[in-house]
Amino acid sequence: MLIRSAPDIRSSEITDESLYWNRRKFIGASAGAALAALMPVAPSVRPKRQDEKLTSYDDVTGYNNFYEFGVAKDDPKRNAHTLRTRPWTVAVEGEVHKPKVFDIDEILKKHPSEERVYRLRCVEAWSMVIPWMGFSLSSLLKEVEPTSQAKYVQFVTLHDPEQMPGQRRAVLPWPYMEGLRLDEAMHPLTILATGLYGEVLPNQNGAPIRLVVPWKYGFKSIKSIVMIRLTEQEPPTSWNQVLPHEYGFYANVNPDVDHPRWSQKRERRLGRFRKQETLLFNGYADQVSHLYAGMDLARYY
Ligand code: MTE
Repeated sequence: MLIRSAPDIRSSEITDESLYWNRRKFIGASAGAALAALMPVAPSVRPKRQDEKLTSYDDVTGYNNFYEFGVAKDDPKRNAHTLRTRPWTVAVEGEVHKPKVFDIDEILKKHPSEERVYRLRCVEAWSMVIPWMGFSLSSLLKEVEPTSQAKYVQFVTLHDPEQMPGQRRAVLPWPYMEGLRLDEAMHPLTILATGLYGEVLPNQNGAPIRLVVPWKYGFKSIKSIVMIRLTEQEPPTSWNQVLPHEYGFYANVNPDVDHPRWSQKRERRLGRFRKQETLLFNGYADQVSHLYAGMDLARYY
C-alpha cells in the first residue's frame, strides 16, 4: 500500500479445484473430530464468474499484506509465527445492549464456519480467489443486540509489539483499525473468517479471526481482531488516517474511480499472466449496489 514498485508476481501454479477437493477429503479423513467440529462442511458460495480458479494455497498464504509483520509480501509468512492465537478474546462493545468479551473458542463453537469462495481485490491492483471458512458477521452482532444508536462498526487488531514486531515501526498508527457502516456489516456477504482451504486460518492471513468484505478493497479486511465496537459516528480507520486523499472510508472496488497514483481499471490475478478488467463492487454489484443507492461513489471513495 505504501510506495513500492510493483513486485513481480510469481506465475506459481494454480491450485486445481479437484486437487483442493482431494485435500479436503484428506483433511476430513485424517484430522479428526476436533477440526471437523471447528469447520463443519457446508455448501460453498461460488463466485459468479465461472472461469475462476482458486488461487493456489501457496499464493494465498505466502503473498500477504500484514504490516504488523513487515511490509514485504513474503514477510508475514516468514514472521507471523510469533503471534499467539490462544488464549484470544474478542470484545464486542459500544452501542449494544449486551456487551461481551468472547473467548475465541466460544465464538467458533456458537458460529459454525462454512466455506465461502470470494474474490479479494487489493487496492494495489492484484487479486485472488480464496476459499475462506467463516460465518456472517451479522450473527455475532445480533447476539450482542445493537442499540438504535448504532450506525457504524469499528474493528481493531491486537496491539502487542512483542508479538507483532512491525508495530515497533511507525509505518501505520497502531493498532490497525477499520470500520463499516452497520448495514454493510450486517450484509450476508460480510464474514468473519476463521480458516481457508478447509484449514484453520494461518497466522499470516489474520488468525484467529479476521474480517472479509469481498466487494471492498482488501485493506478493509482487517486481521487478528480483538475488538468490535458499535458506534454512532463514523469511526477512524488506519489507512484513511495516514493518506486520507488516497484511502476513503468506503473503499468499494470501483474501476471508474482511480487511485490518485494509479488506475483501478484492471487487476492482476495471482497465478495469471494477463491482466483482467476490474468489476464494479468486485463483481458483487447485484448483491450490494442497493447499499449505495443515490450516493456519489467518486466522493465517497
Ligand atoms: N489487517 C491488519 N491488521 N494489518 C494489515 O496490514 N492489510 C490489509 C488487510 N488486513 C492488513 C490487514 C490489506 S492491505 C490486504 S490486501 C489484506 O489484509 C490482505 O489479506 P491476505 O494477506 O489474507 O490476502
